[in-house]
Amino acid sequence: VRTAVVIPAAGRGVRLGPGAPKALRALSGTPMLVHAVRAMAASRAVSLVIVVAPSDGVAEVTSLLDAHVPAGDTVGRTDFVVVAGGDTRQESVKRGLDALPPGHEIVLVHDAARPLVPVETVDAVIEAVREGAPAVVPALPLADTVKEVEPAGTPGAPEPVVATPDRSRLRAVQTPQGFDRATLIRAHETVTDEVTDDAGMVERLGLPVVTVPGHEEAFKVTRPLDLVLAEAVLARRRL
Ligand code: CTP
Ligand code: MG
Repeated sequence: VRTAVVIPAAGRGVRLGPGAPKALRALSGTPMLVHAVRAMAASRAVSLVIVVAPSDGVAEVTSLLDAHVPAGDTVGRTDFVVVAGGDTRQESVKRGLDALPPGHEIVLVHDAARPLVPVETVDAVIEAVREGAPAVVPALPLADTVKEVEPAGTPGAPEPVVATPDRSRLRAVQTPQGFDRATLIRAHETVTDEVTDDAGMVERLGLPVVTVPGHEEAFKVTRPLDLVLAEAVLARRRL
């Protein structure tokens, strides 16, 4: 079964601070997006990567990929397509799915902002979809206790705590999330409310979503400190 990956990379990276769109910022001299694409192409099962670029950055991203990841030059002979993104992550993923050609029955969605996910995690997600799960998410137990609050609306203002969910039942989920193609497309056609991950849309359809073990190195680069961590992980890999 052939696998395609949609990489939403059209965000601005507001929480990372001023600069280029997040996916184009360098990690160890190479754009984050290039790391993410290579992480997907490292899986032998992946034959197509659809990159969803900032709408004003399609040409730039295309030449970036041509320079850094020549098609057919990576493990498994992966092809690349670049399309323009939308105003939300959900819209960007949908535009990526619109560009999906026939012939790929498993579809992964992977954040460009998770450039360091190991290939073992990618393969574990693909394997679980192959075994029949319509939707699969890599997940990790939480280190912090989580509180539900009544949001104050003003940044920094004290917020009343409403509840403390049992941490042992909570998981932090990562990407790549993996799907049976028809399920993911139906979810994106049917669910219109804002959801923060693709598996959440499948849940709205009432279909089962299962976890596989996530990986610490699949963390999302969101704030400046995450860049420090990402550089440290890359330095350790070079040892
Ligand atoms: N994304 C996208 N299109 C958008 C918004 C986000 O393709 N309109 C992508 C980002 O490029 C990223 C992934 O979705 O790879 C996860 O989003 P996030 O980490 O929130 O990235 P940004 O939205 O860029 O960051 P911020 O929310 O801090 O602006
Ligand atoms: Mg965002």
